[in-house]
Amino acid sequence: MNEQELLKQQVAASAAQLVVPGSILGVGTGSTVKWFISELAKRDRLTPLNLAAIVTTSNRSKEQLESYGFKVVELADIDHADLVVDGADRVDDQLNGIKGGGGALTLEKSVAVNSEKNVWIVDEGKLVHHLGGFPLPVEVLPISCEQNFRQFEQAGLEPTFRQRQDGKRYITHYGNYIIDLGISPLPIPSGLAGYLDSTVGVVEHGLFLDICDELLIARHDGTVETRY
Ligand code: 5RP
Repeated sequence: MNEQELLKQQVAASAAQLVVPGSILGVGTGSTVKWFISELAKRDRLTPLNLAAIVTTSNRSKEQLESYGFKVVELADIDHADLVVDGADRVDDQLNGIKGGGGALTLEKSVAVNSEKNVWIVDEGKLVHHLGGFPLPVEVLPISCEQNFRQFEQAGLEPTFRQRQDGKRYITHYGNYIIDLGISPLPIPSGLAGYLDSTVGVVEHGLFLDICDELLIARHDGTVETRY
């Protein structure tokens, strides 16, 4: 296993220990979360966790969870989650983050804001002092995506439509497009979040501010640091 994967496995194993038996668990999306799901299954095999419910933020994670025998329900089926474990693309000193590299930002944010506790699992390469260094995803409705694109261009946010490998536009789970904003570092994240929140046609964006409660960081020296 290469070092990067090893770091993901280490931080995922630490997060699996935070899951309380009988609780309602939210499981995010991404390559680090993939490790979390296998570590969760390992723990469950040793001593069954008897989770009250599991919700997830993508079909990828759902299929992996189901392959281990976990039953996955929809967000609409639960009142709240006790804990959500998810990855992130960048995290700053205040535990604010950019998420949505995998395109699952809308459901990720919906699950996150309906959870008592949010834990993010990252390797130290994702830490930044100021958010940036990774395109900020904005999910937009197809009907007004060209207008949104021009607005972002005029605002100097350096937009590009996310593309699939075949060159066509990437389509989200909800049938929308993603415009990635290339500007870096991000100008005052709370101001940018407010602007995007109030832009008609924007479904959701990948600025996750004041959401992460606990950050687990895999360090290259083999340790896992926790920040609150
Ligand atoms: C998906 C996400 C992921 O959590 C984020 O992209 C991190 O993924 P990875 O663990 O593969 O680096 O936000 O939409």
